[in-house]
Amino acid sequence: MAGAAVLPIAFLLCLALAGGADAAGKAVGFYELKNKKGDFSIKVTNWGAALVSVVVPDCKGNLDDVVLGYDTVAAYVNGSGSFGATVGRVANRIANSRFVLDGKAYRLFRNDGNNSIHGGHRGFGKVIWTVKEYVRDGDSPYITFFYHSFDGEQGFPGDLDVYVTYQLSSPYVLSIRMHATALSKATPVNLANHAYWNLGGHGSGDVLKHELQLLASRYTPLDKSKIPTGQIAAVSGTMYDFLAPKPVGKHMEIVPGGGGGYDINYAVDGEDQYAMRRVARVRDPASGRAMEVWANQPGVQLYTSNWVINEKGKAGKVYQQYGALCLETQAYPDAVNHPEFPSSIVRPGQAYKHDMEIKFSAH
Ligand SMILES: *[C@@H]1O[C@H](CO)[C@@H](O)[C@H](O)[C@H]1NC(C)=O
Ligand SMILES: *[C@@H]1O[C@H](CO)[C@@H](O)[C@H](O)[C@H]1NC(C)=O
Repeated sequence: MAGAAVLPIAFLLCLALAGGADAAGKAVGFYELKNKKGDFSIKVTNWGAALVSVVVPDCKGNLDDVVLGYDTVAAYVNGSGSFGATVGRVANRIANSRFVLDGKAYRLFRNDGNNSIHGGHRGFGKVIWTVKEYVRDGDSPYITFFYHSFDGEQGFPGDLDVYVTYQLSSPYVLSIRMHATALSKATPVNLANHAYWNLGGHGSGDVLKHELQLLASRYTPLDKSKIPTGQIAAVSGTMYDFLAPKPVGKHMEIVPGGGGGYDINYAVDGEDQYAMRRVARVRDPASGRAMEVWANQPGVQLYTSNWVINEKGKAGKVYQQYGALCLETQAYPDAVNHPEFPSSIVRPGQAYKHDMEIKFSAH
């Protein structure tokens, strides 16, 4: 699910003048992790702790980059689709940009109609993170980004320390660990990785023939402003049913120019909502590439790039509608205003731990 974020002009100018570094002098750059064999690598940036590229082999050993992204930091700063970003403090929508926590009312930025989306105008996907550790090769290369979010930032309560680690392991596993600790006040926390996947290669066309399986027998229906009604409904008999693998485009409404496609949260099956488990499997029949998404979160947002139109991406590619799919593991949208949903509140001293494993194969 994408949201338009507007950055203050002064901030953009500051970035432009400093040539990719903010006022505090933290440089923004791209970092690569590569396996020993050299056939599995990723690039990330500390702008938004974003995943920039993922290169994996197809069934004949051909390497392709399977996520959408940009070539330059300036394009990430300008971009509105949260390509690969770590979105937060609260990913997805918060109804009417407000919530009440422990009897106190909080107001957030409206950046999606009356709602707040992806943490506001300048959420975690639009800030500069610090590189804490960087081990670029070896058996399990990794990089850890850190961000300190201050009390009141974008309207959210309390200081929050956030760490995001990307790590490669054998054979073709990408782990993303998003951890946060509330320091001073209770706060909602919902971090999500917003990678746009196209297993045929970024910019290679639409993903309507990708076969998708979602281990979720229920979803959270939305009202007109895309806020959950509170109902947790069965997918059975609806276009949302991916319990058995089926092509992404099979039952979806395909509307050129936006308005069609999936942008919906599923309730991931499993008794323990916070147990690591398989959430989704995707396979591109043309390249044979497949990926499994594992995570320890109650929900997953399926978004089919509905609003990505004529977007200039990496290596001269132009991305179009349905040119990728996002599988954003997360808390349910607007959980802070829905006591009946699994809680997204983290209290002082408590840790938030969102772990993902993305397992690639080709056959
Ligand atoms: C900034 O974004 C707009 C709207 O998507 C686009 O038309 C423009 O080319 C972008 N500029 C840069 C420098 O990426
Ligand atoms: C925003 O809320 C106001 C007041 O409830 C309503 O009149 C208006 O239609 C809403 N706007 C959108 C875009 O939903």
